[in-house]
Amino acid sequence: MKNILITGGAGFIGSHVVRLFVNKYPDYRIVNLDKLTYAGNLNNLKDIENKPNYAFVRADVCDYERMGEIMREYRIDGIIHLAAESHVDRSIKDPFTFARTNVMGTLSLLQAAKLYWESLPERYEGKRFYHISTDEVYGALEMTHPEGIEPPFTTTASSGEHHLAYGREFFYETTKYDPHSPYSASKAASDHFVRAFHDTYGMPTIVTNCSNNYGPYQFPEKLIPLFINNIRHGKPLPVYGRGENVRDWLYVVDHARAIDAIFHNGRIADTYNIGGFNEWKNIDLIRVIVRTVDRLLGNPEGESEKLITYVTDRAGHDLRYAIDSSKLKEELGWEPSLQFEEGIEKTVRWYLDNQEWLDNVTSGEYEKYYEKMYAGR
Ligand code: NAD
Ligand code: TYD
Repeated sequence: MKNILITGGAGFIGSHVVRLFVNKYPDYRIVNLDKLTYAGNLNNLKDIENKPNYAFVRADVCDYERMGEIMREYRIDGIIHLAAESHVDRSIKDPFTFARTNVMGTLSLLQAAKLYWESLPERYEGKRFYHISTDEVYGALEMTHPEGIEPPFTTTASSGEHHLAYGREFFYETTKYDPHSPYSASKAASDHFVRAFHDTYGMPTIVTNCSNNYGPYQFPEKLIPLFINNIRHGKPLPVYGRGENVRDWLYVVDHARAIDAIFHNGRIADTYNIGGFNEWKNIDLIRVIVRTVDRLLGNPEGESEKLITYVTDRAGHDLRYAIDSSKLKEELGWEPSLQFEEGIEKTVRWYLDNQEWLDNVTSGEYEKYYEKMYAGR
């Protein structure tokens, strides 16, 4: 497999996947296809942009004709599809954009790949369509223990390992879809289309569902970078509801490593859940962030706790997400490489050391820059 199309490669997770593939596979040509929406930023890829095995194409995945041209021009063998609208709060305000990009965009890419691959003598031989999805399609989990034990408590994964959790139930690859937000509904619909292209046309597809990612280059509308940036500027930290919701956090580089392993060795037509067995109640996570930022800035301990502000809850706010990623561990030997404390420390340091990147994306400067650079194209 030689020519790999990565969509959404200028975004948060996509940029880590592009970096990993460009550096690790000098024999592959990596084509990064991105529309450069507010969330796409080529500054995320400065360190690899001049590598000979890397190319960038600005395009909209919804542009079906253009997807066909790109498939043919670059003779694409494999696709890792990350391009999407990704923020739940935006989806509540503007669901149409999510249906357009996440559902119609995925369908347009699937159909373009189908027509191109079916035109080749080898057809689907050696080809892959790998779709990146989210655990949010599974809905929300309860926070209960049958004996009334207060969470978090120790529980057992299907692989037999013990870890801390806020409930007895997990998302498995077999869990029924039950999306609640326009974002997760649009991702669920796109997952169904991908599977339908395997079942109907025999396209070699793979779908993975991952938990919440954190790390460098995440757009500061998501919890962790937003709060680091707000603490830095002494601005309020808006905690939705009572901060009781639970998320399972994974360092983004570990997600990219999982994508690499699954792209190369995952079973066709299969699904893998990716998660960190690392559940945090929002308010506890926020306190860790506050302590870490204060310590690294040399502020008195607990100084920024006063910025914590409870605000109206997100509509339809899912209570708990928790992934069981035992299958991925057992079949492909993947495990998270970082302990959470180490990952958070690295992440906070990165945002504090890269204030210019943060200022750029929060001021919208880079968007204006790209609009000018690509004007008329
Ligand atoms: P992001 O918002 O940071 O990046 C999305 C990228 O897609 C941006 O570069 C944007 O310019 C591009 N894009 C958006 N619309 C496009 C279009 N119509 N055509 C071409 N490019 C377009 O998102 P992310 O957090 O990096 O998420 C990437 C993928 O991973 C998404 O599919 C998301 O659903 C999934 N995912 C994210 C998380 C998470 O915690 N962030 C967890 C699990 C799964
Ligand atoms: P987010 O980073 O938006 O990811 P997702 O909604 O996809 O899980 O939010 C993570 C959690 O933090 C979620 O429970 C919502 C909560 N949250 C806040 O309490 N305040 C905020 O300002 C944001 C952005 C999120």
